[in-house]
Amino acid sequence: VGDARPSFAALIRAVADFPKPGVLFRDVTPLLADAQGFADCVAALAAPWRDAGVQAVCGIEARGFIFGAVLARALGAGFVPLRKPGKLPPPVLAVDYQLEYGSDRLEARSDAIAPGTRVLLVDDVLATGGTLAAAQALVAHFGGDVVGASVLIELEALRGRERWMGEQPLHALLRY
Ligand code: PRP
Ligand code: HPA
Repeated sequence: VGDARPSFAALIRAVADFPKPGVLFRDVTPLLADAQGFADCVAALAAPWRDAGVQAVCGIEARGFIFGAVLARALGAGFVPLRKPGKLPPPVLAVDYQLEYGSDRLEARSDAIAPGTRVLLVDDVLATGGTLAAAQALVAHFGGDVVGASVLIELEALRGRERWMGEQPLHALLRY
């Protein structure tokens, strides 16, 4: 079947050796700056979820905020930021997770998600999958119902999809 890349894919810049030697970084900022490209990208991200009854979109700091907030508007849902530690005033709920070296934490306001809320998770990039799995665990901690996730870019070699828990769809618009 035709699995042609959407035209906005050409607006994502590949930068060698950033932020560390050996990493090929996918820079989405040229896409964000392009009115038509950004609009097409948001429409494509929203398409699978139009009839999914999404009540809240959770976006992951920082680039997940950009895509998540506009997706929330596109779907008529609320937006909940999942933040790096120390950014939100208490009380918060938090989940710790492992990075390649060390650990990190995601936090949300402790009343941000009512039990049973239908939640869509959004981020720009799925790499090792640790961040998205932590977001899934945090929403579960609230008793939220994760209906799925959408990312703009999946870096397939890092096999982050294997860390996604359960049968809900994890959509990626572009795979590298
Ligand atoms: C990047 C990206 C995802 C995460 C993916 O965020 O935006 O959130 O890494 O990596 P993983 O799948 O290996 O967990 P980063 O930590 O660079 O934060 P930023 O959005 O604040 O730049
Ligand atoms: N681009 C942007 N964000 C990322 C990447 C990347 O290649 N890898 C992990 N987070």
